[in-house]
Amino acid sequence: KTNEYIENLVIGSGYGGAVAALRLTQAGKKVVMLEMGLDWEKEGGKYKPFSNLITPKNNSTWLRKSTQAPMMNISRFNKKFTGVLDRMDFENVKVYAGRGVGGGSLVNGGMAVQPKKQYFKEIFPDLDVEEFWKTYFPLAQKELDVNQISDKYYNDTPYYKFARVGESEARKAGFKTIRVPNVYSFDYMKKEEAGKVPKSALAKEVIYGNNHGKQSLEKTYLKKALTTGLLSIHDLHQVDYFQQTEKGYAVYVNVLNTEGEVVEKKTINCKKLFLNAGSLGTTKLLLASKFKGKMNNFDPSLGEYWGNNGNVMTGRNMVNTLFNRVENEATDSNFRPGTGVKQSTIPVSGIDNWEDEKHSFFAEISPLPMGMEVYTALYLIINKVPTPGSISYNPKINDIIVNWEKKNYKHTVKNAKYFIKKMNKANGGTPSGLLWKGGYGPDICYHPLGGAVLGKTTDLYGRVKGYENLYITDGALVPASIGVNPFLTITAVAEYCMDEIIKSDYQQCN
Ligand code: FDA
Repeated sequence: KTNEYIENLVIGSGYGGAVAALRLTQAGKKVVMLEMGLDWEKEGGKYKPFSNLITPKNNSTWLRKSTQAPMMNISRFNKKFTGVLDRMDFENVKVYAGRGVGGGSLVNGGMAVQPKKQYFKEIFPDLDVEEFWKTYFPLAQKELDVNQISDKYYNDTPYYKFARVGESEARKAGFKTIRVPNVYSFDYMKKEEAGKVPKSALAKEVIYGNNHGKQSLEKTYLKKALTTGLLSIHDLHQVDYFQQTEKGYAVYVNVLNTEGEVVEKKTINCKKLFLNAGSLGTTKLLLASKFKGKMNNFDPSLGEYWGNNGNVMTGRNMVNTLFNRVENEATDSNFRPGTGVKQSTIPVSGIDNWEDEKHSFFAEISPLPMGMEVYTALYLIINKVPTPGSISYNPKINDIIVNWEKKNYKHTVKNAKYFIKKMNKANGGTPSGLLWKGGYGPDICYHPLGGAVLGKTTDLYGRVKGYENLYITDGALVPASIGVNPFLTITAVAEYCMDEIIKSDYQQCN
């Protein structure tokens, strides 16, 4: 209906979109950003507080009548709502994503992990790795407000017993463990424990949003971009597809209400278009625009090199480990078995088995904060993806299909089985059949990557091949896996792309 002409239009407000918005506005450019989810901060946070894991309300879930967590599906609602966590279901994989201004940063565990240098080189052979280590990773860490838990707090608090037990058991099984940085403020967490501030990570908040403590994007990149006065964000604006015009692109948008109904249709015209709808969202926009917008010049690689970052979730039932003594644990409460009644939702440690070529993986030691002792250890295992899948578009349903089969993920289950077997041999325990059928969840994907890959569908700076003034700077650029939790890498790659785009593609306008 409306006809607006925008100089710089950004679709999506996750990591890629936030970096694009900040760097453009800092360069003095006006930016309009469209986000399909809610601006959770608007009208004094009208749709908050976010839900915790145990008693979720309908603001936890994107347009479904029940929660869709990988486990603990306990809540049903009368009414659908544009909630914060979405799950997109395909034949062999269920892909989770954050919805709202801030994208995945609203729902994720905040782990800000730098990949292995050698693996980064393998995944991005054409990038200058030293430049990334010197410039873009430190820049991403600074802007995202990354911090590290102190050894003292980690060792002292009952809320990280699950992690200490996890590390101790892993070392006993011969694995190397590491502590990982996070964007959740550990100063805030300490105050939570001391009862000085409202609890969030210590009150079972994470995948349905944190009300406090987490430095998600609306508190970092997006806040900074907004303070320039040059960024405006429109929430509940879901882009359907776009088309090339004489002056740039026409973008077709469905405006939603909070029940997901389309209340208005808009066409927004822009000169430069930045696609940042996440791996699946960006790839879908490109494929839908190819079909509906007759954009036939995309590189044939579009839709290829998709992967789940080798994600497989698994757990161990620890009932028969009851009398294991955890190394270096001294107090009485630490001698008690299990992973602890009190658990922070924020993961801070991992198991690094990357150098083992036969079973190369990184495992996040994950919390399972049920509010009672469940004698279950939870892990999110991340693997290589030597055989990537692909994404195609089905015009009949105006949706994508993720082509993801056993050949793409069977090695991830093999590695997970190897890991659990070794852990149980050293510590006791059995695979946790209670959590998933057979004990393994290779169909759970928190880390979708690829579909419109750097150097293939785009040039080496995120410019889409075949078109001018069309850019991608999000997780769609990363081919299939990066070996650790991905948002730090996505942010660093976006910074690197925007550096070049602003230097080279705006000169004429200055
Ligand atoms: P991202 O998904 O963040 O942003 C895309 C945005 O575009 C979203 O806000 C979406 O609503 C919007 N959008 C999509 N389609 C649109 C359309 N058609 N029109 C308008 N808007 C549209 N990673 C990590 O490094 N450490 C961690 O601890 C975790 N933990 C974790 C937990 C859970 C539960 C999840 C689901 C994910 C994680 N992740 C993670 C993954 C991490 O959050 C993810 O890799 C990044 O958010 C991806 O960033 P992008 O910018 O690519 O997309």
